[in-house]
Amino acid sequence: LNYRVPRTRKEIFDTLVKGLQRLEYRGYDSAGIAVDGTRKEGNGSICLFKKRGKVKALDEVLCKNDSIYLDAELDVHFGIAHTRWATHGEPSAVNSHPHRSDKNNEFVVIHNGIITNYKELRKYLNSKGYEFESDTDTEVIPKLIKYLYDNREHDFVSFSTLVERVIQQLEGAFALVFKSIHFPGEAIATRRGSPLLIGVRSKYELSRDQIPIQYNGDFIGDVQKRNFRNRVDSSTSLHSVCDGKAVEFYFASDASAIIEHTNKVVYLEDDDIAAVAEGKLSLHRVSRSAGEESARVIQTLQMELQQIMKGNFKAFMQKEIFEQPESVFNTMRGRICFDTNTVVLGGLKDHLKEIRRCRRLIIIGCGTSFHAGVATRQILEELTELPVMVELASDFLDRITPVFRDDVCFFISQSGETADTLMALRYCKDRGALTVGVTNTVGSSICRETDCGIHINAGPEIGVASTKAYTSQFVALIMFALMMSEDRLSLQKRRLEIISGLRQLPALIKQVLALDEHIKSIAEELYQQRSLLVMGRGYNYATCLEGALKIKEITYMHSEGILAGELKHGPLALIDKDMPVIMVVMRDACYTKCHNALQQVTARQGRPIIICCRDDPEITRCAYKNVELPQTVDCLQGILSVIPLQLLSFHLAVLRGYDVDCPRNLAKSVTVE
Ligand code: G6P
Repeated sequence: LNYRVPRTRKEIFDTLVKGLQRLEYRGYDSAGIAVDGTRKEGNGSICLFKKRGKVKALDEVLCKNDSIYLDAELDVHFGIAHTRWATHGEPSAVNSHPHRSDKNNEFVVIHNGIITNYKELRKYLNSKGYEFESDTDTEVIPKLIKYLYDNREHDFVSFSTLVERVIQQLEGAFALVFKSIHFPGEAIATRRGSPLLIGVRSKYELSRDQIPIQYNGDFIGDVQKRNFRNRVDSSTSLHSVCDGKAVEFYFASDASAIIEHTNKVVYLEDDDIAAVAEGKLSLHRVSRSAGEESARVIQTLQMELQQIMKGNFKAFMQKEIFEQPESVFNTMRGRICFDTNTVVLGGLKDHLKEIRRCRRLIIIGCGTSFHAGVATRQILEELTELPVMVELASDFLDRITPVFRDDVCFFISQSGETADTLMALRYCKDRGALTVGVTNTVGSSICRETDCGIHINAGPEIGVASTKAYTSQFVALIMFALMMSEDRLSLQKRRLEIISGLRQLPALIKQVLALDEHIKSIAEELYQQRSLLVMGRGYNYATCLEGALKIKEITYMHSEGILAGELKHGPLALIDKDMPVIMVVMRDACYTKCHNALQQVTARQGRPIIICCRDDPEITRCAYKNVELPQTVDCLQGILSVIPLQLLSFHLAVLRGYDVDCPRNLAKSVTVE
């Protein structure tokens, strides 16, 4: 939303479309945009453009449409745009957002999340004569706000009051932004369960008490200055700021959409209502329980635009795979002292005593983040000497798993927003357990709601298939295990070995990445196959699960990660000369057992592609093809062994002609249950 920053219609479209493209990794089956009408279209009107497909398709519609006044300049302007990942209703123009109240577009809304009571609301609104045009849950929202507006008790009602009444009726998860012809130049945003932030950009450097934002009457300042809670009574300064000074506000579900405009953001909390009118933003909370933190702060993001640009790579995923020497280093940076062999995780140190006293560790996540827990479980058990459970968030909740006050629960999530993981977090918190977040997104819901945590600092991950976040989560959990075992004399030798392994890790990752061409040639042989099995055990079982997940996510081949110990209990039936099998056989405690599995496969005419350590003729002799890796400490080997599978899935997807960063039906951040 621009306030006194004159913009042409073209600039407004470009800003919104660019923002959508940066968010496209969250969903990309259809997109839409709503902007103020120009004089030609009717002052105070709202224009709506929607299109099935990727954001590019919408952009083409906008470029082709001559009736759009591209040169028309608007002083105060508010546009909204949305890219969708279908939950209710197939991807189509009519099901895409913004959704509207009626044919005149009196109220338009964009929504992330799911409204679980939409059927009841729809029935009610139907009974009041409202006709629905889409199959979505979202459409009840614009209809409901129009109903409340049409049936208001007094002539005057504020936009934010209407939104407040709307959300009182909604169940489920949402981040919403509203626009209306009845409130031109105003924007209302709110959230519950789904992320939403507001970027603030001013043409002029504003001092703290000049920033035109209020939270329940308090001014908000820069978090660094630490004095944001001082109450400043200055409605006068507010006006002096807004008079003649240009401010822009950006609402987005993720900072990457707005980072090229501003790095100053305010994260909204559940049930906050944010209203922008006349160049100022006011925030208030619908229901506030006693004792709750009442201030909101402006945070300065460290993210830079170039971090979210593809550079010379074909896809974000490829870029992120090749970033792993640096991302893994950044996870360790400033945390491991190689001289004293100590590990300090600043975000956990105040809770360390409590963690050391706990009854067990529970590690919870979804998808790749779950696999990071599987990968590190054994070393966590060894170094913490505690029982460790690793759980898929959805299943953990389905089972109503018993959780106790003296449990410590880790929530692993790249985005920090995955709905299943977030709900498991709330579940554990309600039961009094200490909660620890391991995320890659500063300011995310999981960061904010956990008692303490570790930022993995891998840098923004855009490719839907997670790669560098996995290896950084892996390293973060290893560092936690090292920190927990600092005082255990009997474990010092083991600790030293691991710390020195971590030190060499970035260099070893580079050696693995140098195998790219070789892996591409393997992909050229495999890309027409329908199925691919990935087999291993021990520390590398997680590698197989994660490798198979990468393959199915972006190549759409059937792929299964198989525990080699289970081979004879079923999967062996799949083996013949035609079934492609990848086996991970590393020099660790499971070596002999893996070798046995290998024999069983070759005895059935299987032709395994083997990922193994360098100089292992006994193994490579059995291989149809092999990928030889540098050897590291057993518990770190999985960081190296997953990389050939990341590269393989990338090349397979390219050879099969698929969009690597935007696999069909998937989204990067799944903020719905
Ligand atoms: C989605 C993504 C996966 C990711 C999972 C967990 O399913 O497509 O790549 O592993 O969510 O995401 P999180 O952000 O919680 O790590």
